[in-house]
Amino acid sequence: MESLAIRAFQYSDEEQVIHLWIQCGLVVPHNNPKEDIKRKMVEDPNLLLVGEIGGEIVSSCLAGYDGHRGWIYYLAVKPDLQRQGIASEMMEYAENKLKELGCPKIDLMVRESNKEIIAFYYKIGYKDDPVVVLSKRLYEDEPFSPTYNKKRYIILP
Ligand SMILES: CC(C)(COP(=O)(O)OP(=O)(O)OC[C@H]1O[C@@H](n2cnc3c(N)ncnc32)[C@H](O)[C@@H]1OP(=O)(O)O)[C@@H](O)C(=O)NCCC(=O)NCCS
Repeated sequence: MESLAIRAFQYSDEEQVIHLWIQCGLVVPHNNPKEDIKRKMVEDPNLLLVGEIGGEIVSSCLAGYDGHRGWIYYLAVKPDLQRQGIASEMMEYAENKLKELGCPKIDLMVRESNKEIIAFYYKIGYKDDPVVVLSKRLYEDEPFSPTYNKKRYIILP
């Protein structure tokens, strides 16, 4: 396999990245991925990472540091390239970026039902924390509804 090149997201990647998230089941009605990208590009764009192989975006990872803890979202690997170490490489890269910023610990949230992802995180050194995650939505995004052309590529609204 050609090697993985990890770099910061650019707006020209947007369609490929959202397509990847859809393929990986990460786009849900209450999360508009275009708005998520827009917010991240205002906050700390260097931590929205993509992995490229031969010019194609095959992976992503959105990291964040709030001055106390690091966070990880949108970790995704193209389905036909999973189980080849790509997510492990993305996470190592993101962890190093967060460490450079002085981040001492990463927290992340995974649905309890998502046993495979939990197995992945255990494998790369993450442990259970006895916490309850609470949340409160401050406003709703516009619903996201891409269309598809015949090749099943998304066309962004
Ligand atoms: C989770 C995900 C990012 C893992 O990507 P990946 O590139 O396949 O992961 P790696 O190849 O680096 O896996 C490293 C190790 O983690 C464990 N692992 C990874 N995927 C696993 C799975 N589906 N089931 C069980 N263990 C798994 C294995 O021990 C694996 O090593 P091995 O292949 O030698 O057994 C990928 O499955 C994915 O994109 N899933 C859909 C999106 C998603 O749910 N993201 C998480 C949001 S919280």
